[in-house]
Amino acid sequence: MSERTSRGRSAWSDLLPYTRPFRWHLALSLALLLFASAMELLKPWPLKFIIDQILGQHPVGVLAPLTGLNLTAQLAAASVLVVVVAIVGGIAEYHAQILVAKIGHTIAASLRGDVFSHLQRLSVSFHRNTGSGEMLTRLMKDVQEIKNVLGDLALETTAQVVLLAGMAAILVGMDARLALVSLAVFGPVAVLTRHYSRHIKDVTRRQRRKDSQAASIMTEAIAMLPAVQLFGRSQHASGQFGRATRKGLEAEVTAARMKGRLERWVEVIVAFGTGAVLWYGAWAVIEGRLTPGDLVIFSAYLRSMYRPTRRIAANWIQASRAAVGAERVMELLRRKPAVEDLPHATPAPAFVGAVEFSGVSFAYGPGMATLYDVTVSVPPGALVAIVGPSGAGKSTLISLIPRLADPSEGSVRIDGRDVRDYTIASLREQIAIVTQEAMLFGLSVRDNVSYGDPTPDEGRVVAALNAAHAWHIVERLAEGLDTTLGERGATLSGGERQRLAIARAFYRDARILILDEPTTGLDSFAEAHVVESLSALVRGRTTFVITHRLSTIAHADLVLYLEDGRLVESGSPASLRATGGRYDELLSFQVAGLRAH
Ligand SMILES: Nc1ncnc2c1ncn2[C@@H]1O[C@H](COP(=O)(O)OP(=O)(O)OP(=O)(O)O)[C@@H](O)[C@H]1O
Ligand SMILES: [Mg+2]
Repeated sequence: MSERTSRGRSAWSDLLPYTRPFRWHLALSLALLLFASAMELLKPWPLKFIIDQILGQHPVGVLAPLTGLNLTAQLAAASVLVVVVAIVGGIAEYHAQILVAKIGHTIAASLRGDVFSHLQRLSVSFHRNTGSGEMLTRLMKDVQEIKNVLGDLALETTAQVVLLAGMAAILVGMDARLALVSLAVFGPVAVLTRHYSRHIKDVTRRQRRKDSQAASIMTEAIAMLPAVQLFGRSQHASGQFGRATRKGLEAEVTAARMKGRLERWVEVIVAFGTGAVLWYGAWAVIEGRLTPGDLVIFSAYLRSMYRPTRRIAANWIQASRAAVGAERVMELLRRKPAVEDLPHATPAPAFVGAVEFSGVSFAYGPGMATLYDVTVSVPPGALVAIVGPSGAGKSTLISLIPRLADPSEGSVRIDGRDVRDYTIASLREQIAIVTQEAMLFGLSVRDNVSYGDPTPDEGRVVAALNAAHAWHIVERLAEGLDTTLGERGATLSGGERQRLAIARAFYRDARILILDEPTTGLDSFAEAHVVESLSALVRGRTTFVITHRLSTIAHADLVLYLEDGRLVESGSPASLRATGGRYDELLSFQVAGLRAH
């Protein structure tokens, strides 16, 4: 039941919708950039005017009207034109840049928001298999690169292409043969750019993988800091991190080297072009086909063509790198959550609490069958103990009730209806879960207890804490209910965390309660407190409890003994003891173990 991805479409076309809200802004910035390009095209003309019209007595077409003015006025006009062109072009470019930066940031923020919400809808199992570092790199770095392309690069490249085309058109108009000579440089430049960009794409993919690894190592090492320190593995973790970072760095350097090589090649090719233009151009001037001013325009354009050409090549390279990011982000966004609301799903009514597994099988993936044909019916309000060896599929079985995953065969029913017929939100709202690892957040105690409730009720928070026998824990905290816990509740002891988690279940007041080894890992003193809280919680709710505690099991209405994904035995604790099967064996084993203590 893993999430699926659909492939084939280009990642860029899927990202285009993100630019749609900004189409007018983009159009405006493009207009500004085009205007700036036009100013760029004008730059060598005052010089040509001076050389041809003032010094050389060859009137320049568009500027011919100025011939009537005196020399000073003509010179002044030329000089003023230089300044005006520079200022106006600069202003246009400045505003375009700011606009583009704004658009880019807004696009990145909304893309990032979407990726983040999507990540949260993907299954727990997907995240366990993928790792947080990978997700972090996609969310931050890849989105960043996409942003650069969608805003900056796309516009800049368009403007540069237009600039080049404009220069080419003017050159062809002046002297077709010479224009051809100078434009010939673009053939080899294009071929080289394609060649290098393909390599750079491969290298970038490799680099991203290594960066993700480094990020995973970091997030895991920090989450597991106590274990890392206790086992003296800090050095080891640093070593791993260093290696992954170095590999990422090597790839980065390789990409930089390729980019550098490409840029140098472009320079050399352009130099050849310039040389050829000077050669032919000078002959053309000598033979009278061109004016000296024309040659100035030619060489100035060629020199300034060098910049856009280089920019386009560089942008192309960066776009190739960003394409890798786009692929990686789209691959995530296209991944359909394994569990989704079905089209016909309706909000669940208040549950009575009858739960039924009928013919339930489940696999985490192909060839990873975990549950086989489990059928059992639980009446409302019953306490069900699920027992069995480690890895038997107990946690997997109960994860099917709130639809953390869906069975591959069979169905889970609540009050006679398939859980898939209810909307996920309305289903999960009525199920409370307490696991071995108390799922607390770095929020205030109040927000932790009322977690999931958009309008927390202080009275109910206090009542829930009292019911869970946890009020005195809060009383001891410096700011009471407002005390902010450490990340994952790290500033509390295990038993305290667990009782807050139980208080949260009380607050939720759900008909169906799931307890996955809630007392494992606690010492007997803390365990006694937690059990006290739990026994109050269980009352009146359909409860599934995975546990090894004999006294809990003895109180159960129904015991399910699971082994290798199969429901081997089920019945009341007494009846299972009487049949003397696997459950009885497990029990005798545990009792013997207790005696030996
Ligand atoms: N996300 C996952 N992807 C692949 N396999 C998994 C995943 N989670 C669990 N499994 C496998 O499914 C099997 C059942 O796991 P499950 O967690 O349900 O066992 P359990 O009975 O709760 O064990 P324990 O008592 O140790 O908690 C195990 O073999 C486990 O390796
Ligand atoms: Mg388990």
